[in-house]
Amino acid sequence: MNRLENRVAIITGASSGIGRATALLFAAEGAKIIAGARGQDGLDKLVDQIKDTGGQAVAIAGDVKDEAYAKALVETASGLYGGLDVAFNNAGTLGAMGAVSDISLERWHDTLETNLTSAFLGAKYQIPELLKSRNGSLIFTSTFVGFTAGMPGMTAYAAAKSGLIGLTQCLAAEHGPQGLRVNALLPGGTDTPMGRSVASSPEAEDFVKSLHSLKRLAEPEEIARSALYLASDDASFVTGTALLVDGGVSINKT
Ligand SMILES: NC(=O)c1ccc[n+]([C@@H]2O[C@H](COP(=O)([O-])OP(=O)(O)OC[C@H]3O[C@@H](n4cnc5c(N)ncnc54)[C@H](OP(=O)(O)O)[C@@H]3O)[C@@H](O)[C@H]2O)c1
Repeated sequence: MNRLENRVAIITGASSGIGRATALLFAAEGAKIIAGARGQDGLDKLVDQIKDTGGQAVAIAGDVKDEAYAKALVETASGLYGGLDVAFNNAGTLGAMGAVSDISLERWHDTLETNLTSAFLGAKYQIPELLKSRNGSLIFTSTFVGFTAGMPGMTAYAAAKSGLIGLTQCLAAEHGPQGLRVNALLPGGTDTPMGRSVASSPEAEDFVKSLHSLKRLAEPEEIARSALYLASDDASFVTGTALLVDGGVSINKT
């Protein structure tokens, strides 16, 4: 308990799935949360739940593709809570799916902007504040797709998400001397609305589960616990990693 006591954390994609579970866990561990996503209703429900259990949180709705939104999240952290210690850039979308020859340039750009350019925008405004913290931790949600496994029809998603790993490594090298840790978190198939959109029928669900050594999907709370590890002092010597939390999908051959 209290592994993030008095720390301030921005979490994007906080209205659902992995981001929501992480916001609840970080708040239970003492963090003050700035919760982001486009939909205000989902964020308001999250903030109510955190406050009901004695935590502190504020919701700022917006699109992670929007530079002004990246700035506003950081300004809220410093203006309302006095700084920023953790940024979990987690919002994402599967985006343009299917054969490359069928993907429009517009959909390609949208997928990269939501999953990758958003991370650049987040980092651009978060890093100056994170550098003022003694415990700065910057985290991006990537995936095993495009890192340890090629998945048909997921090219735009894979290109964007593996781009996050390059971003992570360079930022970790750039800001390690100043004490800022930067890591990527790589979940396996997780039981969230996004995960369910892939495991969308009993047959598809069985197939997705079978890809994993553990033969099941993760619960969002299991991924949240790994985000907590990266955010907290438990990972004080961990930087520049691509942390697989994937139920063995990357090594599974059965
Ligand atoms: N589920 C899996 O199997 C899995 C596996 C590996 C990696 N991941 C990654 O984990 C992260 C979280 O996914 P999830 O499974 O928790 O999905 P989810 O339940 O569908 O949640 C996605 C979240 O991102 C927000 N979001 C989407 N587009 C946004 C945008 N343009 N601007 C701001 N917020 C946006 C959504 O809220 P709004 O729609 O209200 O904006 C929502 O809060 C994603 O980056 C995903 O790629 C998921």
